Amino acid sequence: MHVDIVEQGVNREDRFEINHHGYRFSQSRCYRESKGELACISCHDPHVKPESTAFRLSVGKVCTGCHEDAADAHAPETDLFRRGACVTCHMPRRRTSDVIHVTMTDHRIARGPFDLDALIQPMEKNNLVITAVGLLELGDPPEGSEADAYRAIAALRSGRNMEAAQGELERALQDVQFPGNGPYVDLATSQFNAGQYRASETTARRIIAGGENLRPAYTVLGTSLLAQG
Ligand code: HEC
Ligand code: HEC
Ligand code: HEC
Repeated sequence: MHVDIVEQGVNREDRFEINHHGYRFSQSRCYRESKGELACISCHDPHVKPESTAFRLSVGKVCTGCHEDAADAHAPETDLFRRGACVTCHMPRRRTSDVIHVTMTDHRIARGPFDLDALIQPMEKNNLVITAVGLLELGDPPEGSEADAYRAIAALRSGRNMEAAQGELERALQDVQFPGNGPYVDLATSQFNAGQYRASETTARRIIAGGENLRPAYTVLGTSLLAQG
């Protein structure tokens, strides 16, 4: 299942995460308005991390291939512009909101101007609050309570809004019978982590009665019994 989240206080389009390249690149006017001429491989092999000043400067030639008259919009005597360091300004390095110890190269080629220093400022902690989870329309996404269960599991596995997500999963599992025990393992683990040892014990016993996914279920059962003395 492919999921996407809605983050409190942040527009979807403005989100900048470590796994952003496809999302952000597809927001670029360069990509959207060049009718298929610009692709990941126009600049580099996306499976090999490009990292050198020479590479960054070489991208300037890709830019000017389509923007011959870019000089008109700039003070062309600016050192960065002259050297072809287009990416320094238009694909700035930016701190990712989910993995706050690193900076990445924003693949939305945007107009700017950007406050380049502000984009890389250290972050104390990740304040992400998930307000909704959506299933992407890839393959054949489920509907109704089954979809609700997947959304709740995604939120649970992200480690955010655990209480609301657990309640949602409990509700969804009353309505729908899953073929495997996967969702019950998520539920049991969440109940255990919330200190609800009786509930996690009950869910673990239920999984064991179903005869699948036994190893995590026995772990939850054992630790739940231990926690209850
Ligand atoms: C395959 C052609 C192509 C390439 C390569 C390309 N662009 Fe673009 N770019 C476009 C098109 C088309 C637009 C839409 C507006 C226009 O026609 O100028 C655009 C728009 C822009 C804009 C305006 C963005 C906005 O949101 O208003 C900027 C800035 C820009 N490009 C910079 C760059 C830079 C920097 C590079 C290299 C990193 C680059 N472009 C590479 C085709 C391209
Ligand atoms: C217009 C040129 C351009 C295109 C098109 C492009 N990249 Fe990049 N990519 C760069 C630049 C510039 C860097 C930073 C290199 C450096 O740090 O020296 C980079 C870095 C990366 C990195 C290393 C991590 C980071 O963000 O710094 C990954 C991964 C990556 N690109 C994936 C992709 C994927 C996937 C696509 C297609 C969705 C793509 N790139 C399309 C120019 C491009
Ligand atoms: C020092 C930062 C900086 C560098 C380096 C830079 N740009 Fe820009 N560029 C800007 C800013 C800021 C704007 C927005 C200007 C505006 O809105 O008036 C811009 C605007 C543009 C536009 C939009 C022009 C328009 O009329 O819509 C294009 C295209 C562009 N740049 C391409 C490039 C290319 C190609 C390079 C490298 C050869 C480059 N830029 C280097 C800062 C930079």
